[in-house]
Amino acid sequence: MALVVVIAAAALQAHAIPPPTTPPQVCVMPNGEGNIEQGKSGKSSDGCMTCNCEEGTAHMTCVSGACPPTPCHDSVKTPGVCCETCPNGPNCKTPGGALVSDGQSVTENNMNCMCSLQFWMPTGGSEGPQAMCIPLPPPPPSGCAFTNGTVVAGTKPGDDLQLDPCTTCICVDGYVFHCFSQPCPAPECSDYFTPQGQCCPQCP
Ligand SMILES: *[C@@H]1O[C@H](CO)[C@@H](O)[C@H](O)[C@H]1NC(C)=O
Repeated sequence: MALVVVIAAAALQAHAIPPPTTPPQVCVMPNGEGNIEQGKSGKSSDGCMTCNCEEGTAHMTCVSGACPPTPCHDSVKTPGVCCETCPNGPNCKTPGGALVSDGQSVTENNMNCMCSLQFWMPTGGSEGPQAMCIPLPPPPPSGCAFTNGTVVAGTKPGDDLQLDPCTTCICVDGYVFHCFSQPCPAPECSDYFTPQGQCCPQCP
């Protein structure tokens, strides 16, 4: 939206003395930034306003360009250039305050924060583009755990483990071991023995 300011150049002459037929010769820029001759135009020192001094009447018309929101958090102001520019390209700010370039993402506080300015809609505030963060999935466990909480590093669902000759444990989804003990029939002799590595007692 352009702001149009029409400023009639003030006649600098004192009240009574000059004949009213004498038109002002120049236009005076706002904020005392010099004069513009009739039929000429000039820019304000910040580069944002262009003023025209009308030939014949010395009526001044100023048009000031509004700057669009700057799509970065490290914009710079160049003297004479109206709108701030982004020397490092567009970027977003993360909740933690880090700058992320457009199209890039960073990991912060177990979240993935992405900067995407493709659909950036500047809002009224001067906040600037914000990174969008989503929580990261928890890392997979280092291994399956027994019900007492002890983890066997490197095991994963589907693995089985021989705990002792009678007990087999299977890791299921959720990284937990289900353990099964093989039942043994009662030995049919009194001098039974259990061979090394076997579960059940045997008779000689
Ligand atoms: C947990 O259980 C497993 C299997 O029964 C056993 O090998 C391990 O020693 C136990 N750990 C503790 C801390 O009790």
